[in-house]
Amino acid sequence: MFVPLQLRELTVPNRVVVSPMCMYSAMNGEVNDFHLVHYGARASGGAGLIFTEMTDVSADARITPGCAGMYDAKHVAAWKRIVDYVHTNTGAKFALQLAHAGRKGSTRKPWSEDPSDKRDYSDQPLENGNWGLIAPSPLAWSETNTTPREMTRADMDRVGSDFVRATLMGEQASFDMLELHCGHGYLLSSFLTPISNQRTDEYGGSIENRLRFPIEVFEAMRAAWPKHKPMSVRISATDWHDDGLTAEDSIAIAEAFAQAGADLIDVSAGQTTPLAKPVYGRMFQTPLADRIRNEARVRTMAVGNIFEPDHVNSILAAGRADLCALARPHLMDANWSLRAAAELGYGKIAPPKQYRTGYAQMQRTLARKDS
Ligand SMILES: Cc1cc2nc3c(=O)[nH]c(=O)nc-3n(C[C@H](O)[C@H](O)[C@H](O)COP(=O)(O)O)c2cc1C
Repeated sequence: MFVPLQLRELTVPNRVVVSPMCMYSAMNGEVNDFHLVHYGARASGGAGLIFTEMTDVSADARITPGCAGMYDAKHVAAWKRIVDYVHTNTGAKFALQLAHAGRKGSTRKPWSEDPSDKRDYSDQPLENGNWGLIAPSPLAWSETNTTPREMTRADMDRVGSDFVRATLMGEQASFDMLELHCGHGYLLSSFLTPISNQRTDEYGGSIENRLRFPIEVFEAMRAAWPKHKPMSVRISATDWHDDGLTAEDSIAIAEAFAQAGADLIDVSAGQTTPLAKPVYGRMFQTPLADRIRNEARVRTMAVGNIFEPDHVNSILAAGRADLCALARPHLMDANWSLRAAAELGYGKIAPPKQYRTGYAQMQRTLARKDS
């Protein structure tokens, strides 16, 4: 897991990735001190690549009012402060995940501001101030969510130019890599899966048609993003539902993005319909990354319940993925990679100079345990 990976001119120093995770803590799309500490700590923790949370290309592209944005000059400056911190103080590379929430937008943060209220409000519409939603077809996420408007060609043009503007802003903010979020039922994902795309024009029906708008957006971004910097695409490779994507669809999707210039497919799954029946377990989505890597012949990132160093090493050594992303394990342990290196007795990883003595002590303690 400590072998570097080359993507265009970017050298990712090792194969452990902090997966994108919404923090719902931005104000009017602007990231702040919380995000500086959050990303700064995880970048110091030894992972080779860290992803931003889903960062939205316009105010009405957000999931919740706490979501991060990239649509205002203030957002560029706020992100650049964090990117500069990461580059100055750590060896990690930093990727920006750009998205539009589509029919899953205009919802509450998962938590209540009242500390005694522990209920999960994810996917619940706002109590007031809901904004209009757009989607490939006028199908609400659930009975309680706002029904979206079917997108017109003019809507597609506006959304496409919002993605390009955010791409240019991502370059101004000095990100190393860019990811287009086409998974989890958000706007572009909802074009790909037949569950949410019931259009009868050239943007619906066959997988070629369902790919048309997401590929258009990707190509416009790729043209705006510097050639030497890599791009990835996150997909939901299955809907965990019989009426959803087929295995062949997911290969066709990966091949189409690779053809359009994607350097890596970030293989997630599900969250495209509330009726999904996922089959959970250790490394449960890795077979999807494996199939796409070995059938579509593209680089993949595996994600989903990968939490032990042995999981990462076995996935990589067996050729099932090129990178492994860990989300929740990094919420509990920002230093997951440093700890793994100490446990495995790997000497070449460099902890931040300020933390060297702590790292050395952990190595000695673990060595004593072994002997
Ligand atoms: C708090 C939280 C927020 C998340 N937000 C995002 C997100 O912004 N974008 C995304 O693509 N996935 C998001 N995910 C999904 C994770 O990136 C990851 O795919 C998922 O949690 C499975 O990995 P894990 O088992 O290591 O947690 C989120 C997950 C969590 C736990």
